[in-house]
Amino acid sequence: MKTIKHVSEMVEISKNYAGKSVGFVPTMGALHAGHLSLVKEARKHNDIVVVSIFVNPAQFGLREDFGAYPRVLDKDQALLDRENVDYIFAPESSEMYPEGFSTSIHVANLTDYLCGYYRPGHFDGVALVVNKLLNMVKPTRAYFGQKDAQQFRMLKRMVGDLNMSVEMIEMPIVREPDGLALSSRNMYLSSEERKVAPMLHQAIKYTVDQIKSGRRDAYKIKREAINKLRVYPEIKVQYFEIVDEEKLIPISKITSKVIVAAAIYLGKTRLIDNEIVDV
Ligand code: PAF
Repeated sequence: MKTIKHVSEMVEISKNYAGKSVGFVPTMGALHAGHLSLVKEARKHNDIVVVSIFVNPAQFGLREDFGAYPRVLDKDQALLDRENVDYIFAPESSEMYPEGFSTSIHVANLTDYLCGYYRPGHFDGVALVVNKLLNMVKPTRAYFGQKDAQQFRMLKRMVGDLNMSVEMIEMPIVREPDGLALSSRNMYLSSEERKVAPMLHQAIKYTVDQIKSGRRDAYKIKREAINKLRVYPEIKVQYFEIVDEEKLIPISKITSKVIVAAAIYLGKTRLIDNEIVDV
């Protein structure tokens, strides 16, 4: 396994894949079993596996946790070595966004609701960095987690709209035994916050069960789920929505495949989760 620090080196390597398939897992590091499930899938289906580790300043808002985001490259390298990864690409910010950098990317519509509404500019930053990484790494396939379902749909749209030739693959959410979705941000939680964190998934699961049992009034089910979360004073609900699975627009009557998606704050920590339900 080789760690590549420079953009020019990554670009040189990607010119010489010699017809081999390349699986790419973009990450911001602080890797957990959710990331590793993407890496394992990439390893299974490709000749070469590249994992990027880059805490992308362009996707953090001014009051968000860019400075505090965990950076543990040595630990990440050890984990990826065990998964037989070929290349880690860990560029510096100054190489990704050199002086004079002036380009932006905005994927409209799919970013209007959910996290896109509450984190203005966030998905522009994600689209920008993933576009750049895909240009540098030139993978056959790129792997993303369903936990960031809006991110995945937005990126898939970008790849289609810009005729980029990469297969986009979404992998299931990996959870703790109590249902909490794995996230690098879980490490911020105090032990008290950690105890109530699984309630996020409980409320989503309640909603899914109601839909599966035949209920179709999204507004009523949503209210019930939010009330379940409000029992816990530590939890501040940012949003709890039932959206169309493709358009990501909140719906009132459930008639097709939907995503039940929510974001909460536990203290300063923001957690997101979702489930996809086909009716
Ligand atoms: O999902 C993430 O970790 C990030 O948004 C990504 C895709 C690596 C872009 O920085």
